[in-house]
Amino acid sequence: MTTEIARRIESLIAQMTLSEKLGQLTMLAASLVETGPPGPHNPATMVREGRAGSILNTWGAKEIREAQRVAMEETRLKIPLFFAVDVLHGHRTIYPIPLAEACAFDRALWQRTAQEAAEEATRDGIQMTFAPMLDVSRDPRWGRICECAGEDGFINAEYAKAKVIGFQNAPAQPERRLAAVAKHFVAYGAVNAGRDYAEVDVSQRALEEIYLPPFQAAVEAGVLGIMPSFTDVAGVAMTAHKPLLDDLLRQQWGFEGVIISDYNAIAELIPHGVAADLTEAATLALKAGVDIDMMAGAYEQGLPVALERGAVSMDEIDRAVRRVLKLKFALGLFDNPLRGLEDISPTPDSDPSRRASARDAARRSIVLLENRDQFLPWTKAPQNIAVVGPLADAPSELMGAWCMAGEIDETVGILSGMRTAFTGSTITHAAGGDIETGDAQAIAEAVHVTQAADAVVLCIGESRHISGEAASRTKPAPPDSQLELARAIVATGKPLLLILVGGRPFVLPQWLIDGSQAIIAAWFPGTEAGNAIADIIKGAWNPSARLAISWPVEVGQIPIYYSLRTTGRPNDPKNGFSTCFLDAPITPRWSFGEGLSYTRYDLSDAQVSATTIERDGALDVSIDITNAGKMDGETTIFLFIRDPVAQVTRPALELKDFQNVALAAGARQRVAFKLHASQLAYPGMDLAPRLDSGRIEIHVGTSSRPCDLKRVDIEVRV
Ligand code: GLC
Repeated sequence: MTTEIARRIESLIAQMTLSEKLGQLTMLAASLVETGPPGPHNPATMVREGRAGSILNTWGAKEIREAQRVAMEETRLKIPLFFAVDVLHGHRTIYPIPLAEACAFDRALWQRTAQEAAEEATRDGIQMTFAPMLDVSRDPRWGRICECAGEDGFINAEYAKAKVIGFQNAPAQPERRLAAVAKHFVAYGAVNAGRDYAEVDVSQRALEEIYLPPFQAAVEAGVLGIMPSFTDVAGVAMTAHKPLLDDLLRQQWGFEGVIISDYNAIAELIPHGVAADLTEAATLALKAGVDIDMMAGAYEQGLPVALERGAVSMDEIDRAVRRVLKLKFALGLFDNPLRGLEDISPTPDSDPSRRASARDAARRSIVLLENRDQFLPWTKAPQNIAVVGPLADAPSELMGAWCMAGEIDETVGILSGMRTAFTGSTITHAAGGDIETGDAQAIAEAVHVTQAADAVVLCIGESRHISGEAASRTKPAPPDSQLELARAIVATGKPLLLILVGGRPFVLPQWLIDGSQAIIAAWFPGTEAGNAIADIIKGAWNPSARLAISWPVEVGQIPIYYSLRTTGRPNDPKNGFSTCFLDAPITPRWSFGEGLSYTRYDLSDAQVSATTIERDGALDVSIDITNAGKMDGETTIFLFIRDPVAQVTRPALELKDFQNVALAAGARQRVAFKLHASQLAYPGMDLAPRLDSGRIEIHVGTSSRPCDLKRVDIEVRV
């Protein structure tokens, strides 16, 4: 920040009334075009009186121009508003949901789609996105698992860096850059029983090892905002968590951006039971370091009383105002309040390159889970294909829960994608019922259509309305009505391709898995869904995605993830007194890193450049990978470690790096990783980083399953 800007900020603060200061700390979800009845809470009135400083979830030239006009022409100090929207995986052009895109294990892709989303969103007058969402989750019952990059802290940290750079730095022109807000700080993904908004009680070790690293990565990448979660962590409500929001985030990590509460979260300190009223709630949040009150009215109503009582100081208020004004200067809004805005909103069709990019991102995120007897690809397609299920012709459902400005009528559904791709086949369709309600007649019709076909594509799963926020489900699976349809379709005995649409791993009945020749996890693929799915089916894209989240066999296994600790009684099928279930395996249906391809990758000759490593040393880990099939392809190589003897128990496997590899049919390539001794450190008994002398197992391969890994041991000497 230049001294001139600092001077201007101090000059503004010196002129501001308390009400105007609190206005800068107030974010409204509002339209100033359709403002509703007049009165003190009318958004136009609030902006005009300087009682609101930013607006969320509003976009487009008409809305932005009117809101900014009021701020710049009708207020006393003419401080521009900033506009923030949940641009998680695209703005008008929708990319795969984050959980899907994580399965691409492609840092460049993650950055690219963020950059493209920023370029679209800023054209619609948006300057900030409430993204990336970095809440590591291992619980498919939690609807918001769709928003994160899966079960692993390291992946979420790599995803965080790519997204912050993509949103904030990658766009060449400053007016195309979007301020990113990493959310929801912290451990929201560990809500009790996967129930949204429920309490979170994780150890300090879990925070250090799993939940904090993605946010630290975002801060190190320069993220401009942080949003605390609705929840508590071990009894301390995050919106008032001074130790984490101030001592750790600001003092230790050096975060200098703004902290924006979640929607109404400051007021929710009252039902959390840590504040008696809005004054106490506002006091706690301000003192913890929360700068902006999203939609609670707590700062406007509570802080004047808190100031009067001496519970907060004007300096504490000015500190928050200073951060908000600094952000507005950084966003270029004082130079151009309409920075970036264009009168014509971008759409997927307005820029074909973006549509192509969305299709590429979707293809790279779709996971092939099963493919019996090389059922796929349909290079020679069946003559008659039945495409059935409530998700078969439902383009609006394929964009996911946070598709805000997504262009539904420009989204390609599965049926449409199949018809475009398989012009030589007769493609019939039957929905077989609605997404959440069964219909015997509709099922009968779908059976009829299936019986007349040579193969059936069954498209089932979730609507976007039962995924995302406030969408916890005790049965993470396609709704029962759809399983009834599926049972009828399986009973026809027709060759069946199962396409699963949804925002979470599904627990699937064995009869459905056995009755399917191939199974695809399509997730919510976005604007180009149908074309990307068809690309996989016909082999125009050799499936390359790998699971970033374990798929349980039973709900009762949850939480289940690859980096479980071995325990003192590691699972031993021959020993009932080992860690196990009597009625289910302890392994997932499909593991972290799993995903099939239309070719075969063989690993060989895993090597290390040295068998010992010193405290500040590094060594190379390398392995040969061969594309042993007839089809070019891409895959991911993972580098895990295991620390067999440490001061505390360690996970059975810890992911330390990954690489995307493209291999022509028959090609062989050596893949190398640099492994630094620092990557072998772990939080010791006292939670301080610790590196011990002793053996470390290195496991390199194409998934977290032992059968997909090659092991080489090294010795740490400190
Ligand atoms: C929601 C979500 C948060 C989002 C905010 C604004 O309740 O928790 O992720 O950014 O409100 O839409």
